[in-house]
Amino acid sequence: MKILIINGPNLNLLGKRQPEIYGSVTFDQYFADLQFLFKEIELASYQSNVEGELINRLHEAQEEDYDGIVLNPGAYTHTSLALADAVSSIETPVVEIHISNVMDREQIRHISYISKNAAGVVSGFGLDGYKLAIQSFVNLRNQ
Ligand code: DQA
Repeated sequence: MKILIINGPNLNLLGKRQPEIYGSVTFDQYFADLQFLFKEIELASYQSNVEGELINRLHEAQEEDYDGIVLNPGAYTHTSLALADAVSSIETPVVEIHISNVMDREQIRHISYISKNAAGVVSGFGLDGYKLAIQSFVNLRNQ
């Protein structure tokens, strides 16, 4: 099984950025935990602050035969029709994840352009949301 994690803008700063919201662990540290936990899964991760690069990566992922994509679109969640179109343009299932509980934050964060075309949404469980999203792909495969 092959899963790609795609992180959007400002998520390169995890561990440093607003730790009261996003925690104090860097994504690299957490990614090592994920690899340890899901040894049987080929995990890859990609981050970009650039909307078009995220779209390109989604398109490429489809050609690379990923079983699933775990996408944290960051603030593009609430603004990007182009990213939403990319999610709906590929066959690979996408689980949307947010570290924070976006529904417990500002009104603008209650809107997601992505959710409609996502296989599911995980929000509010901290970095462990990535674990839950990966587990959801494992569960689907074992159904
Ligand atoms: C986020 C929530 C977004 O509203 C925010 O812009 C982010 C991170 C999250 O993981 O909680 O950059 O996607």
